[in-house]
Amino acid sequence: MVRSVSRVSSARVGLVRLPAEKGTFVRMAAGSEHAVYSFEPFTRHRFYEEVNRALVEEGILRLPASAGRRTIVDLSCGTGAMTAMVVEALLRRGLEATILGVDPSSDALARAESRVAGMGMRVRFVQGDAADLAGTVPGAVDAVFFGNAIHLVSDKDEVLRQIAGVLAPGGVFAFNSAFFDGTYAPGSERFYRLWTVRAMRWLRREHPRVRLSRGGKVAARQWLSKDEYETTLRRHGFDVLHSALDEVRMDLASFQDIGRYWLFIEGALPGAPLAAAAEALEHGAREAFDELGLEYVPRNWLQVVASLGGAASSERGAAAARSSTPGTTTVP
Ligand SMILES: C[S@@+](CC[C@H](N)C(=O)[O-])C[C@H]1O[C@@H](n2cnc3c(N)ncnc32)[C@H](O)[C@@H]1O
Repeated sequence: MVRSVSRVSSARVGLVRLPAEKGTFVRMAAGSEHAVYSFEPFTRHRFYEEVNRALVEEGILRLPASAGRRTIVDLSCGTGAMTAMVVEALLRRGLEATILGVDPSSDALARAESRVAGMGMRVRFVQGDAADLAGTVPGAVDAVFFGNAIHLVSDKDEVLRQIAGVLAPGGVFAFNSAFFDGTYAPGSERFYRLWTVRAMRWLRREHPRVRLSRGGKVAARQWLSKDEYETTLRRHGFDVLHSALDEVRMDLASFQDIGRYWLFIEGALPGAPLAAAAEALEHGAREAFDELGLEYVPRNWLQVVASLGGAASSERGAAAARSSTPGTTTVP
């Protein structure tokens, strides 16, 4: 019988935020280690495909009507998993578009490029940061997809300002995250707590000299709730068109794959060498699954699609006009 953690225990323990990735803008370190500890294997899990495809479909459905070629940005495109889904969704509907994939990691961009090569749509990849989206992509784009990355950004207001700044009126903004307040299905916290404890124990035993770094992480781990995301979107002139929690079932292999992703490792075991930390997380996950007798752990994915309202666009127009007038300030 399949046993889910939500059935194993109804006890609510304090939130253990081991899987929090680094929440401020990431520093991109020298390439090759990041290529080894890549996000790619995690994106190959079936639940990952399904939950992200669902978001892409919701976003594409709501594209504003257009007679011509659309421009669509895949912000934080990473290794191109969502980019490929966007391409497929457009091709299936016979829609023409130019797609721009943006990510700060050159390793990830190289993988993304080969992932979508030959799919039959024009895709360009640009190295860039969410904090400077307006300086990276042209204005008046039809849609911005932002998959599995908004939690990495500590200043949500700034990133939403940037996204609102590049969207055309009525343009679509679609994002999702499995690192938000509400991502843990009830009762599953005990798994995360045990995973942390077992990973740390393995690390201490096998690498007694490794010291985890402290400080500077607390603010980075402020996960927003679904309601807080919706409120923040509205504050920036977005209309929320779709907002849902999709539950997925994560098996052991998927936790071990996310535990081998360098950005995840930096959040979970900050300061530990990637190789040692990845092994610790792999062993820890196995032990936690075995001890709790699990086949999978349920987890909620937050899926949101919004559109840029007319008020926001006229505000931006007014702001642009004001910013060109000496002595006036720009409205965010
Ligand atoms: C978990 S991956 C998501 C990749 C892809 N969107 C997907 O859903 O499969 C997160 C990505 O966010 C990128 N990222 C991290 N900080 C960023 C920032 N400040 N601006 C833009 N992208 C960032 C990382 O380089 C990484 O490729």
